[in-house]
Amino acid sequence: MGNIVFYFSGTGNSLKTAKDISKALENCEIVSMTKSFNFTKQYDRIGFVYPTYFWGLPKRVIEFIENINLSGNKNAYYYAVTTYGGSAGNSLYQTYELLFKKHGIKLNYGQTLRMFSNYVIIYDMSKKINEITELSNEKLIPIIDSIKIKYNNSINKLTSIFKFINEDFIKKVSNMDKDFTVNDNCTGCGICEKVCPVENIEITDNKPCYKHNCEQCVACIQYCPQKAINYKNVTQNRGRYTNPEITYKELYEYNHGLLK
Ligand SMILES: Cc1cc2nc3c(=O)[nH]c(=O)nc-3n(C[C@H](O)[C@H](O)[C@H](O)COP(=O)(O)O)c2cc1C
Ligand code: SF4
Ligand code: SF4
Repeated sequence: MGNIVFYFSGTGNSLKTAKDISKALENCEIVSMTKSFNFTKQYDRIGFVYPTYFWGLPKRVIEFIENINLSGNKNAYYYAVTTYGGSAGNSLYQTYELLFKKHGIKLNYGQTLRMFSNYVIIYDMSKKINEITELSNEKLIPIIDSIKIKYNNSINKLTSIFKFINEDFIKKVSNMDKDFTVNDNCTGCGICEKVCPVENIEITDNKPCYKHNCEQCVACIQYCPQKAINYKNVTQNRGRYTNPEITYKELYEYNHGLLK
């Protein structure tokens, strides 16, 4: 029957997690949530792996789960893993609620996974990349074991303040790229265009231009080898982070369905 895991990822944490889950399950496809998907067969396990944004889901993940047709796969085992940096808020419960309200499907298992916190617009990057990565690798092991044996758990709703904060972010996010700046260190290499999961960047006259359909995933800021992309004048002196196991090339290839 096979398994499938859908992911959304800006800086590689969630893709790395989806890859590890996929490796541990037999016959498991990895598919990006940035493009629409039509099921042509039934799956044994169906998973969603994504980052927490403002204590809830990224806009693209909401749209993907709302619009996917799951009617031929009602009997699969459904799970979700939300990666986060400090507090996952309602991001698991939101998936639970969306699956139930839109599709009448119960999320069998959900887990939060603390990983490196990448939101460079709000804070500087920690220097403890190795320690944090090691810890998250350890915490992923029991999650994978649970998915393998199709373990069921219950997912609790947290305070509704998280919901309002996420809704406000979703309303504004598309246009948030208007505050990104590109300095003269830009070499026109095109990496930012490649890593953008939603094709919101076009290189024109050797510089990135933003199309105002942003997810605020910060991949362009984080993967730029010249640190040429910044948020206003806030991020110039801050560190940069991308998941140590996910190169820009691999992220691009997975996002475009060139690797499965
Ligand atoms: C726009 C944005 C909002 C974020 N909001 C939260 C948050 O509310 N809580 C949290 O713990 N981490 C938050 N983070 C951190 C990410 O959830 C975390 O680093 C995640 O593992 C990144 O996954 P990725 O590398 O697959 O993109 C945020 C990151 C971004 C870019
Ligand atoms: S990744 Fe950086 S250097 Fe390369 S085109 Fe984009 S902004 Fe310029
Ligand atoms: S423009 Fe940058 S921050 Fe916005 S979605 Fe693309 S890569 Fe992410």
